[in-house]
Amino acid sequence: MCGIVGYAGKHHAVPYLLEGLEKLEYRGYDSAGIAVNEPDAIRVIKTRGRIGNLESLIASQRHSDATVGIGHTRWATHGKPNDVNAHPHLSEHGLFCVVHNGIIENYLSLKAQLIADGFHFASETDTEVIAHLLEQNYDGDFVSTVRKTVAMLEGAYALCILCRDFPDSIVCTRWASPLVMGKNSDGVFLASDVTAILKHTDDVFYLDGREIALIENGALTFFGPDGAAGEKQPKHIDWSVSAAQKDGYEHFMLKEIMEQPKAIQDTVSPRISSDKRIVFENFHLTDDEIAHLNRIVIVACGSAFHAGEVGRYVLEKMTRIPVETAIASEFRYRDPVLDSHTLVIVISQSGETADTLAGLRLANEKGAKTVCIVNVVSSSIANEGGSVIYTHAGPEIAVATTKAYSAQVAVLYLLSGYIADRKGLLTDDARKTYVDALLKLPDLIDQTLRDCDDQMKKFAELFIPMEHAYFIGRNLDYACAMEASLKLKEISYIHSEAYAAGELKHGTISLVEKGTLVVALAACSDVFGKTMSNIKEVKARGARVLCVSTSENAAAMNEVDFKVIIPDTLPLFAVTLEVLPMQLLGYYTAKSRGCDIDKPRNLAKSVTVE
Ligand code: AGP
Repeated sequence: MCGIVGYAGKHHAVPYLLEGLEKLEYRGYDSAGIAVNEPDAIRVIKTRGRIGNLESLIASQRHSDATVGIGHTRWATHGKPNDVNAHPHLSEHGLFCVVHNGIIENYLSLKAQLIADGFHFASETDTEVIAHLLEQNYDGDFVSTVRKTVAMLEGAYALCILCRDFPDSIVCTRWASPLVMGKNSDGVFLASDVTAILKHTDDVFYLDGREIALIENGALTFFGPDGAAGEKQPKHIDWSVSAAQKDGYEHFMLKEIMEQPKAIQDTVSPRISSDKRIVFENFHLTDDEIAHLNRIVIVACGSAFHAGEVGRYVLEKMTRIPVETAIASEFRYRDPVLDSHTLVIVISQSGETADTLAGLRLANEKGAKTVCIVNVVSSSIANEGGSVIYTHAGPEIAVATTKAYSAQVAVLYLLSGYIADRKGLLTDDARKTYVDALLKLPDLIDQTLRDCDDQMKKFAELFIPMEHAYFIGRNLDYACAMEASLKLKEISYIHSEAYAAGELKHGTISLVEKGTLVVALAACSDVFGKTMSNIKEVKARGARVLCVSTSENAAAMNEVDFKVIIPDTLPLFAVTLEVLPMQLLGYYTAKSRGCDIDKPRNLAKSVTVE
């Protein structure tokens, strides 16, 4: 997710661009830039780092009187965060200039064709492809050139474009990424979301998918996908700027929970080829090295470790390679036995967690193969891993991770299927069934969130007065129970623990008494019956049980007090849906208890110290 802005009006553009970018910095903050249409050329000023770096750079240069410009603050997905990869991007001869929010999934094939046609690339980004395509497609008409160009793109985009031949104009268009615009007597304002333009107008136009807007001499003209000009009614916004940064949600955590369908879509779909094979960029394990792997170790902290617990079951099931997990702060001091036939998978949202980085360095020192699953491009862990598989979850602001956790799990499913396929363990049908289940996840996640939201708001009330809660499950359900427990305790401050359901009788069940709250995760059909037995055990001691399972098991959930039903999917994937009501449970419980949800006490988003 990135932030894009634009201005065309009576005043100097640069101050308006910087003001808008400051409001959008939460959307991405690893580099920033602006472009203004000056009499002799489109002038681009951009730099790695936050908006403040850009402001200093601009202040050190010649003042610009330009009254038309675009700007961008970046969350890197393709290409390291550096000056060259920062937006805006110019076309080969500086005829066009683009800022982009989204992911172009077919950029590599388009880039290869452009290089063959003689274009030269400065950056590693997918966005620069758009700039050169515009120049290649230029027919003298700004709007029709944009229409022809975006018809060649696959993936998500919100674009603001300058053309040197049209110094008073900006053309914008979008597909799957947001773009909004408004105007007042000072000019026309464009942005990724209303946060950046609310100061100037609260009557805004939301661009529809594949619609094109032409801003020219202070006027706004809209063209439908068929090219016909059309009328649009403005929408009145009564949000505050803060509410707008959260897209109207009360907290970033709830916004990020609801962003999970897109986070999984952006993480999975670019890695599925047209013949339904799993493909990775930045992955350097050869088939021979994969064939000779005799052990996999997953190293991480916190929720990333819980994602690793899911990966442990899925990887071992799919690849038939022994898999273990290790908490990074333990792993780094245990002098583990590793060699070149060990694959160490390191998972981290921030890519800066000190213990996890130390675990990666230890694995590298001992000669293990390493793969890093990271959300922040070019972070320390990403830069030191043998291979890197990025989660495309976008910036995660809430301390309690949700969409990044789910994207990590999705990557582990991708990696499991990839290794199994490279080892020849999957028939064509099995591989296609597996890939189809992965591709269906975004819709199933969306359905689960819609189905469970109100219910979990109600069930959260059960937890408000509680001091303790227990989360139990078996196999993948147990892995989910770990994350469910952490989600509750880290933001509602209720003590909770996750327990292997079959292990309760070996001691912990002594804590169960009348009224004890137990959450039983039972979406894994192959152990559902066993978990039902464990539910009976705690019920017999007076516990109240909230059980999560799939609709196919609903009839058998007769022992429980509160049922949460998630959609059916392949049993191996049920855990990706099961965690969603648990995230909502944690959120609504913390909200009911008046806790600081996005910034829980004692916690930091990235623990960069031991
Ligand atoms: C999870 O909600 C917490 N924010 C915390 O456990 C986190 O998962 C852990 O600190 C690891 O962070 P990382 O993924 O950035 O390495």
